Amino acid sequence: MSDELKKQAALAAMSEVKSGMRIGLGTGSTAKHFVDYLGAEVAKGFECLCVPTSIATMKQAQSLNIPLTTLDEIDRLDVTVDGADEIDDRMQLIKGGGGALLREKIVAAASDKMVVIADTSKLVEVLGKFALPIEVNKFGLGATQNAVSAIMQDFKAEGGLVLRQQNDAPFVTDGGHFILDASFGRISDAKALSDELLNVPGVVQHGLFLGLCAKAYLADANGVKELG
Ligand code: 5RP
Repeated sequence: MSDELKKQAALAAMSEVKSGMRIGLGTGSTAKHFVDYLGAEVAKGFECLCVPTSIATMKQAQSLNIPLTTLDEIDRLDVTVDGADEIDDRMQLIKGGGGALLREKIVAAASDKMVVIADTSKLVEVLGKFALPIEVNKFGLGATQNAVSAIMQDFKAEGGLVLRQQNDAPFVTDGGHFILDASFGRISDAKALSDELLNVPGVVQHGLFLGLCAKAYLADANGVKELG
């Protein structure tokens, strides 16, 4: 999607934040714009306390003097604004394209409201065209891969399972885990798939965000439309 559309969605989501709020900061190229807009407001006196969902977002927020805290210091947030890889009309998401899904889900679940910002190309009828990121423990990788592959067969996945790579080595998340990208093609029962994946001991978390997103700002050439 064009950077301009990402900016429009991010700017629209600024309407969700008020001075004094505790805010979760998402990860990715769209969330990055939101953090930039928030930083500009902070420079003008806007007060907030924020929890970043990745080391990259933490560094960006620090560079903008956005006050940061952790979920050890505060247990709830008013709102989290984050990007998504796919969103359906039931506000179910696939996230984790940037590899931050675990922290993103912890922060979203600790928020009274999760707001997604994206362009309308992320809106899909059925989730699954984007390969589902699954964060897994490094220990027992082979066994976990086999277990996830078996689940993919049960769910009639149309594609394969790959260990995400970066610079010719396995990609490592901020939490020190690997990511498996599972190409389902279509995910007809996201809740059942979520339950199955979480039953695999080596699966730390997956990128299906179900019942977490309350609102989405989706930008296209005609403007920003709201979902939820
Ligand atoms: C990172 C994410 C991102 O929010 C998602 O990949 C969307 O990123 P972008 O805004 O760059 O398209 O889930 O883990």
